[in-house]
Amino acid sequence: MAADLSPIDKAKFAAARRAVDYVEDGMRVGLGTGSTAAWMVRCLGERVREEDLRITGVPTSSRTADLARQMGITVVGLDEAKWLDLTIDGADEFDANLNLIKGGGGALLQEKIVATASDQMIVIADAAKEVVTLGAFPLPIEVVPFGWQTTKALVEETLVSLDVLGRSTSLRLNGQQPFVTDEGNYIVDLHLSRIGNPRQLALILNQIPGVVENGLFIDICDIVIIGQGDGRVELRDINQGTVEQGRIDFVESDNIFADLGE
Ligand code: 5RP
Repeated sequence: MAADLSPIDKAKFAAARRAVDYVEDGMRVGLGTGSTAAWMVRCLGERVREEDLRITGVPTSSRTADLARQMGITVVGLDEAKWLDLTIDGADEFDANLNLIKGGGGALLQEKIVATASDQMIVIADAAKEVVTLGAFPLPIEVVPFGWQTTKALVEETLVSLDVLGRSTSLRLNGQQPFVTDEGNYIVDLHLSRIGNPRQLALILNQIPGVVENGLFIDICDIVIIGQGDGRVELRDINQGTVEQGRIDFVESDNIFADLGE
């Protein structure tokens, strides 16, 4: 079944498989959201079943919570876990400083809270997620539904004085209706093309009333694991300044490959 996977899924799987090596018995682990994170949850579930690993998972979305339970991972909320050893999550973009754009799956708020409450954050990604400058992927911001159009207009006005290339914004939809996050908020996507100063933008966006959080993760990620379709993986540790190469074998496993996708 692994043979049926697209190269991109193989790349995501390879990164996910390597990342779960970091999980040790007894750890409290933040579980990210998205298609790459879903591979990680599957791989982690396999380790829980096969090695009788006792870990506690803190999911970053209702989708991930459902999948984790399905995979046999014990799930608790962040307030119960309090502090996490490790969070493993995907990203929409990462740069050389391991700053990220996240929120393509609409879970950026829980993802940022959980990652920030972790000793370590590992991002798993395929090579296409690497960029020189953040911003080609639309930057999601989570906004409260009350007055969202006013908030959106205020964000557009604020962008005029900032170092970005594009300034259009759009409400994220689910069919004809606004996409609603797990917290009951909306997502506005900012089409910036290029973000000159991500740190400044992240701070300024969060000053706007109605903006709950933005998808820029600055100085939060410690390690990125980049997967390739042929099983190669590269680990970059920003704190150690190290780069390590490895390889993952695509060993058939019914449990992992049986129930694909998100
Ligand atoms: C969800 C996220 C995801 O991590 C991000 O969108 C990457 O998703 P995928 O692994 O499916 O490419 O931030 O809010």
